[in-house]
Parts: sequence; structure tokens; C-alpha cells
Amino acid sequence: MAKEDGAAPADSTIFRQFFARPREVGAIRRSSPALGIAMAKEVRWPDGGAVIEAGAGDGAITEHLLAAKPPGTPFFAVELNRTCAHALERRIPDLKVVVDDLANLCSICAREEVGEVGTVVATLPWSVIPEDKQTRMLEAIIETLAPDGQLLFYIYIQALPFWRRSPFARLLQDNFETIRHGSVVWKNVPPAVVFDCRGLGQSPNRV
Ligand SMILES: C[S@@+](CC[C@H](N)C(=O)[O-])C[C@H]1O[C@@H](n2cnc3c(N)ncnc32)[C@H](O)[C@@H]1O
Repeated sequence: MAKEDGAAPADSTIFRQFFARPREVGAIRRSSPALGIAMAKEVRWPDGGAVIEAGAGDGAITEHLLAAKPPGTPFFAVELNRTCAHALERRIPDLKVVVDDLANLCSICAREEVGEVGTVVATLPWSVIPEDKQTRMLEAIIETLAPDGQLLFYIYIQALPFWRRSPFARLLQDNFETIRHGSVVWKNVPPAVVFDCRGLGQSPNRV
């Protein structure tokens, strides 16, 4: 359950960190409950495998993932920004938070002795991150996910036309058999679309 005592008001952490690191934080406010619910609904909770949320910020999506998580499913968050990570730890004291870069996912999982990774929920601002960094992070996810694993993420609606032609989108098409997306979550600011990628290694485009 989220804990508000002693924590910064929701939004103030993301707002302040956006001005310190705009290309990492990528939004001036945390995601809405509507986006959190839309993402949590799409998670395929794996049998035995772990679920990792990357770019968890101060926990706007995390709260909804944890509310839907079956008991016993291993779950932890990866967050690059130390201030956001501390805000997240204060809000959700029982959550394991790893302060590191998603691009290091393979070494994080080895260090934390995570067995199989069934689902990665990447709730970071893909469209504002430099393309070479996007590629490194996606390669790390692809290398870490189980063969039947799932990648979930959101893209803000205004970025979609450019994003669809990006190296990130091509890398997804080359590696996942199915890439589905939901309808626009209009209640989020900015509105966002949730993508659900599955069938790793079974894409007909895979080289
Ligand atoms: C827009 S905020 C989203 C926070 C939260 N997931 C939400 O939806 O409200 C993006 C978060 O991704 C984190 N982030 C950016 N690049 C990252 C990386 N390479 N590895 C891990 N976290 C990263 C930022 O520090 C920030 O907390």
C-alpha cells in the first residue's frame, strides 16, 4: 500500500527532477491512476518468473502493479534517479528498489540473483531518451527476458508518429512476434498508449 507519511506530495518529486534531468525524467508529472490501471490490467503474471518495473519514478504505476500482483510473484523496481528512488522507498517501504540504469538489466539480475524474468514493465519516457540509449536499454531487456516473456511500456500520444519510425520500434519488430497496443488513455496527461510485446525470438523479421 502506498505510504504518504513523510513523503513529498505526489508529483513534486517528478516535477523537480524533470527540471534537473529533463531527458531522463521526460514528464513534469507522474502518471495518472488511469494509466496505472491500464498497465496493470495488461501484465501477464508469470508462473515463477519475476516482474520488473523500470523507471518507476515515485511509484505512480508501481502502486497499481502491486495491487494486481499475485502473492508470491517476485517483483522489484529499477530506478536511475536517486531522489526518485528514495521517494519511492518512502511511499512503498516493502518494495525492493534497485538504483541503477535499465541498460544494466543483465548485470542487475545477476547481482540480485533473479532467476527467470517473465515481464518487464518499462514505465520510462522512451520518446525523449536519446536513440542510442533507447537501443541499449531495449537490447538489455531482450537479453534478460524469458523466451515467453512480455515487455509492457507506454508512449505519449504526441510522440507516436515519430516513435513508430524509430530504431526502437524497428528493434521491437525484429525481436517480438506480436506487438499490440491498447486504446489511448485520455485521462493521462499527456494521453498515452500502452504497448504489449510478446513472442520474443519468434518474430519473422528476426535476423
Ligand atoms: C516520466 S518518469 C515516470 C515515472 C513513473 N513510472 C510514472 O509513470 O509516473 C520516468 C522515470 O524513468 C526514470 N529513468 C529514466 N531513464 C532511466 C534508466 N535508464 N534506467 C532506469 N530509470 C530511468 C527517470 O529517472 C524517471 O523517474
